[in-house]
Amino acid sequence: MKNVTSTIVMRVGFGKRYEDGHKRREILRLIDELQSMITNFFVEDLWPGLPFAGLIDKLTGKIDRLEKCFQDLDSFYQELIDERLNAQNAKSCKEDQDILDILIQLKKEQLLNSTEFTNNHIKAMLTDVLVAGTDASAATVVWAMTALIKNPKVMKKVQEEVRNVVGKKKCGINEDELPKLIYLKAIVKEIMRLYPPAPLLVPRVTKKDAILQGYKIKEKTLVYVNALAIGRDPESWENPEEFLPERFLGSDIDFRGNDFELIPFGAGRRICPGIPLGVVMVELLLANLVYLFDWELPVGMKKEDIDYEAKPGVTMHKKNELCLLAHVYS
Ligand code: HEM
Repeated sequence: MKNVTSTIVMRVGFGKRYEDGHKRREILRLIDELQSMITNFFVEDLWPGLPFAGLIDKLTGKIDRLEKCFQDLDSFYQELIDERLNAQNAKSCKEDQDILDILIQLKKEQLLNSTEFTNNHIKAMLTDVLVAGTDASAATVVWAMTALIKNPKVMKKVQEEVRNVVGKKKCGINEDELPKLIYLKAIVKEIMRLYPPAPLLVPRVTKKDAILQGYKIKEKTLVYVNALAIGRDPESWENPEEFLPERFLGSDIDFRGNDFELIPFGAGRRICPGIPLGVVMVELLLANLVYLFDWELPVGMKKEDIDYEAKPGVTMHKKNELCLLAHVYS
């Protein structure tokens, strides 16, 4: 799934399409390696005052691994930036700008007057877009397919909706048809309620001392917001542990940061800036999967054999691969 989502993000963000399978695999490897480094255990992060903490990380090889990962990412981004600068010199037309064009323009014109905008800023932002855009959307589609194969009635209902709306002759679903897919949208919301791909959002730090429900919280305390627990809170949701997309039919609750009982994209100033793209990617991928194929479990497997276990990490991925048989729908 990450193959598809990274391809979409690369096209939208950097205008790139990697036909070369080797290059695409290398980029996916780099994304995985970066995520593994972000969640890795560094002695110096946990006990910064400990003598030789940095040395321990060096001796265990972690610092070298981290540096190698950043060097590889750096040269990949530098290549993208150089290519784009050459292409911009070659053609004067600047229509259809993508994210990379805009970042390069910010640097050229120094439009952010509070700080000097450098290539390093561009590279950091490209990393955000590549990692955040690829991973969360892929994880969501896999969770959705897991829930659908375990709930055949829901699968049947969504296939009927999609196939009725789109008709029989088309080879795939496009963005214009998404607004008509009301039940599919309810499924996506329900999946994000139960399996938010970033269950603890992005960590925050308190700016000043505060008191929350009688607890004193000091300035500069690291705070995690548990979006997964919020989505399953029995005070907000009836039968919170059940997968019931119907709960969203006729409901105004949305996941764009205004309804605090459902915050898979976060809320407030740090809210995910990629919501429009993320939602379209998930809906489009899921709609096409259920439209184009009928799905079956591999021989000898029952739906009870499929689990909802998650891997540890910033993004919540399914731990055991979801293997299904796809039959082309005709
Ligand atoms: C299903 C898809 C997605 C989900 C569920 C998701 C979820 C999130 C969440 C929970 C956060 C942290 C928000 C907070 O802590 O309040 C976040 C941050 C972010 N997301 Fe997404 N995201 C998705 C897709 C995307 C896409 C497609 C992009 C860009 C192409 C993107 C770019 C970002 C960036 C750059 C941040 C960091 C914002 C910051 O900290 O300032 N995301 N996302």
